[in-house]
Amino acid sequence: MATLAGKRILVGISGGIAAYKIPELVRRLKDYGAEVRCVMTQGGQAFITPLTLQAVSGNAVATDLLDPAAEAAMGHIEQAKWADLVFIAPASANTIAQLAHGHASDLLSTLCLATSAPIAIAPAMNQQMWANSLVQSNCQRLAQHGVTIVPPASGEQACGDIGAGRMPEPLALREFIVQLLQPSEALFAGQHIVITAGPTREAIDPVRYLSNHSSGRMGFALAAAAQQLGARVTLVAGPCHLTTPAGVQRVDVVSANDMANAVDEVIADADIFIGCAAVADYRPEIAVTQKIKKNQDTMHIELVKNPDILAKVAARDNPPFTIGFAAETNDVVDYARGKLERKRLAMIAANDVSNSDIGFNSDDNAMTLLWRDNAGEIQQTQLARAAKQAIAEQILRHAAQIKDNH
Ligand code: C5P
Repeated sequence: MATLAGKRILVGISGGIAAYKIPELVRRLKDYGAEVRCVMTQGGQAFITPLTLQAVSGNAVATDLLDPAAEAAMGHIEQAKWADLVFIAPASANTIAQLAHGHASDLLSTLCLATSAPIAIAPAMNQQMWANSLVQSNCQRLAQHGVTIVPPASGEQACGDIGAGRMPEPLALREFIVQLLQPSEALFAGQHIVITAGPTREAIDPVRYLSNHSSGRMGFALAAAAQQLGARVTLVAGPCHLTTPAGVQRVDVVSANDMANAVDEVIADADIFIGCAAVADYRPEIAVTQKIKKNQDTMHIELVKNPDILAKVAARDNPPFTIGFAAETNDVVDYARGKLERKRLAMIAANDVSNSDIGFNSDDNAMTLLWRDNAGEIQQTQLARAAKQAIAEQILRHAAQIKDNH
């Protein structure tokens, strides 16, 4: 059973209506044996009282950086050293901005600078605020500085809007915390994860081919993250100039057919399959054996469809937990939803490649994850723009959580 016995969790509560869910979170953490202390910002105290949190945590609640009485009990540096994890929920846009810029303007922000414990934040705000590029870039900055962002859920909000920005429910937050505090290597221990990455090349003749701009970086980042999280990883890679992540078994392929065959050979005992490759949809029907001469003004190449590797894996008897990618230039979420259903995937990660700054051939990415919950409803969440390595880890942690709940 999951347990947090002996873990010391410092919960930071900033100003947002989702603060009303925190007493429940504190109780559920204590059910798992965690020791919990709470720190509240001024905004947080406008929504729930320190007394409530003191009652459920069993510890005095700190609210003020410059309060001599509180500092005499457990000062901010002691609190920072005490924690095994600093978990800020709800994290308001203001608190996120303070943290992203290294402010030490109140007790919570100061604690975050003074701690060597991991910090995770659960942003919760109106969907328009969450979508604001300043909020997104602050989250991205925090992710680059090692702060874990718990992706907000989407749905109806307290203000009546519908969209992404809701704080996940206390039990989901507790699950996230359990995974964060587990030795990371254990998350996929004993599991085999097969990942396709990079482009494929479809021969026209011995010197020419059809391909695309995929760099393979997202798939390689997933392989590295999966390996670090304890999985045995097979990376089936199309032609790309990237170093194989340590400990990962790499199989190099060129064409879509090669990739399909290589996946077939390793998929039987896979627990998770991630189709991250930008597989060419079509190949020339005939790859001629001699170089084509330019002695005609026009030429015609007949293309035939390539096998859909992802759909084939998902259609197996007893398929692995199958994750697809959808790179789109428009109507990203709609197309991704269609693919999730059509290819019968467990989860899909969708991104907008119309923005040349992220996605293809870039170090960063931003994603919408879609999956089907136990009731058969499609759920979605947004992963803020971050380095592909950080996005990869978030996708995998999310997948582990969904897979365990199924
Ligand atoms: O259908 P579409 O190509 O847009 O779907 C993208 C997803 O399907 C990606 O996860 C990609 O790796 C996978 N795919 C595949 N084999 C193909 C085409 C796409 O595995 N022939």
